[in-house]
Amino acid sequence: MRSYPPTPNSLPDPVRDRVRGYKSDGRNLRTESCSDVFLYTHPLKSDLILKTRDVRLRLQEPDLLAETVALTWLQDKLPVPEYRCFHVEGDMQYLLMTQLEGVTGIHPDVTGDPAHLVAEFARGLREIHAQDIGSCPMDWRMSRFFQWAEDLIDGGVFDDRIPAGGTRDGLREELDAIKAALPEEEDLVFTHGDYCLPNVLFKDGELTGFIDLGFAGVGDRYLDFVSATWTIQRNLGEEWISPFFHAYGLEHPDREKMGTWQSVFEFIFR
Ligand SMILES: Nc1ncnc2c1ncn2[C@@H]1O[C@H](COP(=O)(O)OP(=O)(O)OP(=O)(O)O)[C@@H](O)[C@H]1O
Ligand SMILES: [Mg+2]
Repeated sequence: MRSYPPTPNSLPDPVRDRVRGYKSDGRNLRTESCSDVFLYTHPLKSDLILKTRDVRLRLQEPDLLAETVALTWLQDKLPVPEYRCFHVEGDMQYLLMTQLEGVTGIHPDVTGDPAHLVAEFARGLREIHAQDIGSCPMDWRMSRFFQWAEDLIDGGVFDDRIPAGGTRDGLREELDAIKAALPEEEDLVFTHGDYCLPNVLFKDGELTGFIDLGFAGVGDRYLDFVSATWTIQRNLGEEWISPFFHAYGLEHPDREKMGTWQSVFEFIFR
């Protein structure tokens, strides 16, 4: 059982030192993942966000070390939270960062004008994809992506899907078949990795920040298109997908490639 919400007294020393004098109302801001997310406020200093994760849960979700690596690499490149500290204690990881101002892309203040919202959402993605990938240490190229997925199979993460009498080979074959349908040549850019509306911040109607970067790294551009279209469909309506691609500057996205990457995501995250 988790002992949440974490009060400053229940935090490991290095984290507690960082939030001394701060208060949290204990409200968990997490969206769908297995991380817990708390806001710590201070009358004089920048507000902080504490993200915690039990590494034994949902191994197919990124851990906070991956998010820390991404966050620190991105510090002067994109508008992301300022990194404050990362700590591991037993099975728990702790990541402390500054709170970005504004509201997320699912707030009624911004969803009220979907045309403007998808234009900003597309502009944000262009900014991400325009990063120079030369020195990027986070790798989500296909070779690593599928190695990671195979490791998840080998680690038993999807064993509950194996029919009675079956083996993990069935899962490996399913994944291999999806992989075989992807074009061999990758369209490599810097990808956010979970580019959805709850993971972007808006201020005065403009997209001003990116959060939740545990899956960020060098990968195929379509990785971000899968999350972007999924969130648009879910939070705004399917009719806003085309305006999004238009604003991104891609009139005719490759539907087949997108469908195949969607199948990969469904395999891993369903
Ligand atoms: N640095 C931040 N600045 C402002 N708001 C934040 C920040 N970090 C998190 N939040 C708020 O908390 C919510 C959840 O945080 P986050 O997106 O990092 O985690 P998650 O989606 O629950 O977990 P996961 O990382 O596993 O996807 C965000 O949608 C946002 O509302
Ligand atoms: Mg999120």
